[in-house]
Amino acid sequence: MFVIWVTGLTLLVLISHGIEASNHRQRSLESNPDEQPYRTGYHFQPSKNWMNDPNGPMYHNGVYHLFYQHNPYGPLWGNIAWGHSISPNLIDWIHLDLALTPTDPNSDINGCWSGSTTVLPGNKPAILYTGIDSQNRQVQNLATPKNLSDPFLREWTKSPLNPLMTPINGLNPDRFRDPSTAWRGPDNMWRVVVGAGIDGHALAVMYKSSDFVNWTRSVAPLHSSQKTAMWECPDFFPVGINGSDGDNSYLNGDQYEKKHALKVSFDSRDYYVLGQYSPETEEFKVETDFMDEGSDLRLDYGKFYASKSFYDSEKKRRVVWGWVNESESDADATKKGWSGLQSIPRSVVLSKSGSQLVEWPVEEIEKLRGYKVSLQNIELQGDLVIEISGITASQADVEVSFEVTELEEAESMNSSRVDPQMLCGETNANVRGKVGAFGLKVLASDDLTEQTSIFFRIFKTNNSEEKKKYVVLMCSDQSRSSLRDGLDKTTYGTFLDLDPLQEKITLRTLIDHSIVESFGGEGRSCITARVYPVLAINEGAHLYAFNNGTTSVKISNLNAWSMKNARIVSM
Ligand code: FRU
Repeated sequence: MFVIWVTGLTLLVLISHGIEASNHRQRSLESNPDEQPYRTGYHFQPSKNWMNDPNGPMYHNGVYHLFYQHNPYGPLWGNIAWGHSISPNLIDWIHLDLALTPTDPNSDINGCWSGSTTVLPGNKPAILYTGIDSQNRQVQNLATPKNLSDPFLREWTKSPLNPLMTPINGLNPDRFRDPSTAWRGPDNMWRVVVGAGIDGHALAVMYKSSDFVNWTRSVAPLHSSQKTAMWECPDFFPVGINGSDGDNSYLNGDQYEKKHALKVSFDSRDYYVLGQYSPETEEFKVETDFMDEGSDLRLDYGKFYASKSFYDSEKKRRVVWGWVNESESDADATKKGWSGLQSIPRSVVLSKSGSQLVEWPVEEIEKLRGYKVSLQNIELQGDLVIEISGITASQADVEVSFEVTELEEAESMNSSRVDPQMLCGETNANVRGKVGAFGLKVLASDDLTEQTSIFFRIFKTNNSEEKKKYVVLMCSDQSRSSLRDGLDKTTYGTFLDLDPLQEKITLRTLIDHSIVESFGGEGRSCITARVYPVLAINEGAHLYAFNNGTTSVKISNLNAWSMKNARIVSM
């Protein structure tokens, strides 16, 4: 055991100092990049097989932990266990043995499903997770580290009292899962929410406990909705107003002004609402509700699901991850031997206006930036495409800001009646507009037969009630991302809360072989896509900036970096 620890610690020290610990880098782990063009260079993935939700991320004694839903036996969903990896910096990872596997008929023999960690007094982490019992009921279980002095917390012991919460008193045994991180109220009692669906409506059911073992269901859920059937993976966390940090300590009352965010997952999307939470009365008063007309707050408007956040006490920030599923078929996954990525971990804060969350890739990822190319003050006349050459376009980080001066030319639109995703699909990057489409073409072949376009269009509002004169549409167009058929090439879109009269339109896009993660308006809207080009792989990939509108647009500034591989190794 001692020898393994030393080896593990050495590895952690080596990767945190950026030393090439071995040649086991992620892209070469299983095969060479030509055979596996869709494996990532710096996005988290296991060395093989299936992965879905991020589970129980946490920071503990100098080490970041990420657990995840994993099928250790194959590339499709099944046999669900908890994979476990650790990191010094959220970018480089060491894969460890499974943390939880199905073992107990009473509590989890048919699967260890999603859950969260909570760090209990005395700096003792605890996992609450959903188990599928021998009758296929969803129940909630506890596990704690076997040996707290193991710096990597490799082994976990399940509570002999499991299950701790069962689907009784009207709870639906098929719709009762994914316990959140717990928090303590002024009465010193722990609280946790579990996703549920009863009689066609969704709830975040609340439980309370004084000892983390005996849990009692509260009469009232934290929140519920008649408009959706079930919520998965609820995540409930404070966000500080005016940049304060969103610690989840409730014990000392209000240390700073804050709102709370409740994120829930349904219909393959991660929605959230903001509101005021009173731990005294347990009331959560939302500002706008899920599925309210005109409100569509999502962590990501593309492929991003079952996300989970944690409070990083080292850097005083909240960090969120989401599962980014494949857009290929099961047969494709079987052929390549793996399925599923995690997004880049993103720091999450409340926007200055207080009306939404803002996400940004954690700063640690910038250490992977290598060769850089820059452009300034480039006028993009209508119908122009320029290549940004000199970097590895299949694995890159691109930041660009656009200035639009001829706004009067913009077409008119009544944004309250328009579905932005549909609009992006109808007016794809090829459709000529007045102001836009302009943006980036990534993972593009040299003849542009393959391209993924992340772009903007600006419209004038003709609705007198709208405060702003212009609306900015942000799209990620996958319709020509691959010559292959049989892929999900849905185009995604959203409106960006940004006034082009007041500020430049910024876009940051992380490109990593088969994932394109885009952050518009400094992270006010995020869109993630999965793409599988045939020509635009490895050296065949190109990067372009373009303007397909009739009015000209200026690139004020563009920086693009080749990205190095993260060091992701197995122990
Ligand atoms: C979300 C989810 C969770 C469940 C897990 C099973 O993707 O369906 O609700 O716990 O995946 O793997």
